[in-house]
Amino acid sequence: MKLTKLMLPAAISIAGLALSGNALAQNWKLATGDAAGGTQYELATKFAELIEEKTGGDTTADIFPNGQLGSEQDTVNNASMGLLDLSILAINNITPFSPTVGVLTLPYVIQNAEDAKKLTQGDIGKQLTENTIRDAGVRILGWAYSGCRRLTNSSKAVEKPSDLDGLVIRVPKNEIMIASYQAWGVNPNPLAWSETFTALQQGVVDGQDNPYITIDAMKFYEVQDHVTDSCYVFSLEPLIMGEGQFQSLDPEMQEAVLAAGQEATEHSYDYLIETEDSIKKKLVDEHGMTITQPANDEKEWIEQATQIWPQFYDSIGGKEKLDEALQALGREPAPAE
Ligand code: MLT
Repeated sequence: MKLTKLMLPAAISIAGLALSGNALAQNWKLATGDAAGGTQYELATKFAELIEEKTGGDTTADIFPNGQLGSEQDTVNNASMGLLDLSILAINNITPFSPTVGVLTLPYVIQNAEDAKKLTQGDIGKQLTENTIRDAGVRILGWAYSGCRRLTNSSKAVEKPSDLDGLVIRVPKNEIMIASYQAWGVNPNPLAWSETFTALQQGVVDGQDNPYITIDAMKFYEVQDHVTDSCYVFSLEPLIMGEGQFQSLDPEMQEAVLAAGQEATEHSYDYLIETEDSIKKKLVDEHGMTITQPANDEKEWIEQATQIWPQFYDSIGGKEKLDEALQALGREPAPAE
């Protein structure tokens, strides 16, 4: 989806400016799709703290968690049009606006946190940031690393793709994720993130997938009993700012914003590594969730889902883009078509 009205910096700057002391101060609104407490919130809090510190208190950011400022996909439009300062959302909710980032959500490309870091912090991350500015009018300033997406459901232990039979699984409105479930033999239900908890609670859908930290932050354990310890997509959650707004900042401020984004990203990685295991344990010990290991080291899941890669070569910019990512991860190129 290509956006045309990308640059309305004046609107944002005026909305965000207020006089404070002897300087022009600005107070930014930072949206997160997730509730307080998860990786999005951690990145948001760190970024807000750093930007305040780096600007001597002249720039502050207030965090609006839990989709208060709109669905994750709405916040991309709003940031690009200058109606919102900052947002943190899952990468899968940016893909519809900037399809080349889909290389990060192709199933089983990123298999762990280290892979996620390599791709986002290297040349591929830089390229995708440029593409997102071009296609969606938003700049990625930093990344939350949220962990592998784990399948949850309210009905039964799921070990292999055929166990999905009879389950309605919610997925983001993301073609790659929809196709992954279709490859496993079921038709998932694409729903906005903001509607997911209620849909699970009311039994409109039986399951969904998201990382352990998100399952905990969103209290999904209240409505889901079973988790499959799978890793078909790694959840990356960029911090974005409208490019119009970024360009309206003076060079010193741009530098402060980029540095705050980078430092907050490093913090996010450490946060994941330090907390994921204990949150996983808490989901079992305190919230009674049952964790199931995928059968045969996830072999069947991998074989079936990776069949969809070629369907997305055009949208990610060609097979060579996937091969570049695999090479950066020290893996073999994708099989020839
Ligand atoms: C989604 O499932 O739509 C997102 O991954 C949720 C999130 O942002 O945590």
